[in-house]
Amino acid sequence: METTEAIHGWRSIRRYKDVPVSDEALRAVLNAGRRAPSWENVQPWHFIVIEEDETKSKLAELASGQKFITKAPIVIAVCGDLSAWEKPKNKEALMELAEAGVMKVNEEIIDKVMLNDPVFCVAENGPAIILSRTFEQLGIAYGFMGIEAVNQGLGMCVVGALNSEVTGTKHELYQEIKAELAIPDKMYLLTLLTLGVPAEEPKARPRKAFDAIVSKGKIGRKL
Ligand SMILES: Cc1cc2nc3c(=O)[nH]c(=O)nc-3n(C[C@H](O)[C@H](O)[C@H](O)COP(=O)(O)O)c2cc1C
Repeated sequence: METTEAIHGWRSIRRYKDVPVSDEALRAVLNAGRRAPSWENVQPWHFIVIEEDETKSKLAELASGQKFITKAPIVIAVCGDLSAWEKPKNKEALMELAEAGVMKVNEEIIDKVMLNDPVFCVAENGPAIILSRTFEQLGIAYGFMGIEAVNQGLGMCVVGALNSEVTGTKHELYQEIKAELAIPDKMYLLTLLTLGVPAEEPKARPRKAFDAIVSKGKIGRKL
């Protein structure tokens, strides 16, 4: 399938056929997430594939009762790995970029300048920015995964309405699920992706007009 066709074929799919997702298609979707770009290539994500009905039910409850989650053949728990931003790991990522020649910097510049500069080092900006940057990276990863899902003939829905550390609600259930999925302290469960063979063909949802969201040179001037 052409990439453009896959992008324009995107619809959130919330009803699935009662057939399994092939291992090959599932791996293609996960690998699309793995290949996504991220800030200094820190890759602050982990994807947990969930097939057990009981766990899906708990996740649906965590998602304020969104029942379609229980009917999806596969649910992917998308976790943000906040430890990926810590300076030693950030340094590793920067060193790899330097060694690959992507950035013309050496270890001394990384240590003395970059890792102490809030523009280059997300950890320098505190927890709110770390979290927002984590969401930013995850969005790119599941964006890639959604396109690959369409390419594989699968349907996917992003579920962001989730009680978590971020909302501070349903704390007990959230912690119970975190323990069950063996998610460490420095990882947050932030988003779910439901995946399966589509059992519906919804019309494409409308989008804002092109000129409402694109400008040339300055806002208000049409391209
Ligand atoms: C970050 C994010 C969170 C979302 N959370 C939910 C959700 O909790 N439940 C749901 O049914 N759809 C959710 N959606 C799907 C949106 O409602 C959907 O993408 C939007 O209405 C546009 O429709 P389309 O995806 O079919 O084009 C979410 C989408 C995104 C990108």
